[in-house]
This record gives sequence, structure tokens and C-alpha cells, in this order.
Amino acid sequence: MIFGKKDHLVGLDIGSSFIKVAEIKVMGKGLVLHKFGYTRIIPGTIVEGRIMDMEGLAAKIRALFKSQKIREKNVAISTGGHSVVIKTIDTTTGSKKDLHKTIYSEAEQYIPYDIDDVNIDYQVLGESDFSSDQVNVLLVAAKKDLVTEYIDLIQMAGLNPRIIDVDTFALQNAYERLPYENREKTTLLIDIGASKMSLNILKDNSSLMMRDNVSGTNQILEEICDQFDITVDEARQTLNGETNDIVSQDRIQGIGSKVAQSWCSEIREVVDVYVSSTNDEKIEKIILSGGGVFTEGFQEFLLSEFDADVSIINPFEGLIIDEKKFSDDFITQAGPLAAIAIGLALRRIDDK
Ligand SMILES: Nc1ncnc2c1ncn2[C@@H]1O[C@H](COP(=O)(O)OP(=O)(O)OP(=O)(O)O)[C@@H](O)[C@H]1O
Ligand SMILES: [Mg+2]
Repeated sequence: MIFGKKDHLVGLDIGSSFIKVAEIKVMGKGLVLHKFGYTRIIPGTIVEGRIMDMEGLAAKIRALFKSQKIREKNVAISTGGHSVVIKTIDTTTGSKKDLHKTIYSEAEQYIPYDIDDVNIDYQVLGESDFSSDQVNVLLVAAKKDLVTEYIDLIQMAGLNPRIIDVDTFALQNAYERLPYENREKTTLLIDIGASKMSLNILKDNSSLMMRDNVSGTNQILEEICDQFDITVDEARQTLNGETNDIVSQDRIQGIGSKVAQSWCSEIREVVDVYVSSTNDEKIEKIILSGGGVFTEGFQEFLLSEFDADVSIINPFEGLIIDEKKFSDDFITQAGPLAAIAIGLALRRIDDK
């Protein structure tokens, strides 16, 4: 390109219930939200992170790009939860080449898959707290067949996959850009989607602990099905308020609260592990993302469990937004769903 560097990407967050897309342009006046939109996908299209209907999902992505009039073909996507392992390990320091060898030979013990079946990436975080001969390394392993599946999907949709990120990192990337103060406080970033939850404990923008599990809003659907002996589709319609003749809304809220309480207990366990392995006494800030934030009572439970400052992420904060293109209502409602797509849209082609 003669006029400036064209290295921006479209952020595409392929969730198991909604696909979100975001495009951000760097202009003289700042970062401009150029495009943003999302669409629901047919339930069952993605199960445990695996794509069950490649053609159908590729068509959905194409339709979303078309409806949002996105012409850019280079995209950043992310994977997470299932089939991705993130660990911080301590290993012997050495030259770049030696370190590379050591990490690959040691990785196997940290990964529950055959080493030949995974793509490994790592980043040296710094000297280990325990010994100056050791370095602390962030190790990421993603199953090769999963990565190939997503690359095939993107190509089938007529797009170029330029960056394959990890959901948790993309969320952290969105958070780091936000004009928040008190970054030195121990902060817990939580994303709860339909089929997975990811937790990331941060201090001064450095991650101290990451955990993924398979909790999410699908648990509410399953519980409604079980208790009322109805199908998942009927439960979904009931939950979305599309029909009210099957189950009373009060009982649904009760089920939502029960599930939200179980999320709180899971989060407590992770925080306890963190606290017992560090000098930190408590989590001071909790920032929520993902559709799980809409679950009745969840924020209140977190507040009473952790006595921390609890808020919902607004990943659009600080971006220049044309109100004629995106109404305030839309931006407020979409905020919790948008964070990962925004974090991906902020990546640049030459990012690692
Ligand atoms: N406005 C809303 N009111 C109530 N619930 C909502 C709302 N928006 C989303 N949800 C719930 O959040 C879920 C979607 O959240 P999200 O988009 O974070 O999930 P996902 O990214 O598709 O899933 P995952 O990341 O687990 O694969 C929906 O399935 C629904 O249960
Ligand atoms: Mg998600």
C-alpha cells in the first residue's frame, strides 16, 4: 500500500450461541468503531468447541459479513475452553534455542494430549519467583485438528484467517485498552458464555492465573428441560420469553439464580487456589463479560461472595462511535457480548 500501512483485521468471535464481528479503524482522531454486529447460530452447530455443520456455519459468517457490509477479508479469530490448554510453568533458562528445546520436551507433562496432536506456543514472562536459573513461561497448546477445523471454516466463508488467538487473551486485550484506573488492584476478568466460562486474574495488566471450564448459560436450559420435561428448543423459547404457556417466569428466574450460585462457587474455588498460592488476600475488582452477565442474581451473588467492586465490561468505551450507526441502546445491550470480538479487532497482522 502506498498510503499508509494496511494491517488491520476484522475480529470474529465464533461463540457457540452467537457469532460477533467487529472492525476498528485507526484514524487521526483515535480508534473508530467501523463495524459491529452479531447473529445467533443454530443450536447444535458448535458442540464442545467442535463444528458440527461447517457449511451452515460458513454461510452464517458470510451472511453476517454481508449484512454488516464488511469488505475486509483478513480476520482474527479465537478458540478457547475445550481443546486449548494454558499453563504458566517454570523451566530452566538458557539461550533462545535451548529454551525452545526445553519447553517442547517438558510440555508433554503439562498437556493432557499427545504432543504430536497439538500446536504449542509460549511466551517468557520473566524470571521465576523461586530461582534465578529458572524462567516463568506462559505455555499455550491448542489441538491441531481444532485449529485446522477453524481455519477451514474461515476459508470456506471466503475469508483469510490471519490470527488464531485464545478467547481469554482477546478479552484481556480488550480490557487493557479501556480507560480504567487502579490497574494495580487484583482484578478478576470473567467471561461466561453459553458453553464455557473463562477466568483470568490480573494485576498491573499481567495475568497471574487463568482457568477455563465448561459452565455457561446452557446449564440453565438443561435444568429447565430436566425440571419441566420439555425439549431444549421449548426451554430456549421459554427462556427467551417467546412463549409463556409452559413454565412460569418466576420458576425460570429461580433456576437461573441457582445456576448463577453454582458459578459463584466455582469462581470461589479458583480464587481460593490463587489466594493460597500468593500473598494476595483477596480479589478487589471483578469485571464481567459474556451473555452470562444477564443471569438473574449473578452480580449480587458475586458482590456478597467476594466483597469486591463488581462491574460489567463496556468494551466500546473510549472508541469513537457514530451514534447514527450504533444507537446508545444497542451499544449498552451489546457490550457484554462484544468484548472478545473487540479484543480481536484490536490485533494487527504483524502481532504474534
Ligand atoms: N439480552 C440477554 N438477556 C438474557 N440472556 C442473554 C442475553 N444475551 C445473551 N444472553 C445469554 O447469553 C448467551 C450467549 O452469551 P455469549 O454470546 O457470551 O455466548 P457464546 O460466546 O455464544 O458462547 P461460548 O463462548 O460459551 O461458546 C445466550 O445463549 C443467552 O443464554
Ligand atoms: Mg463466547
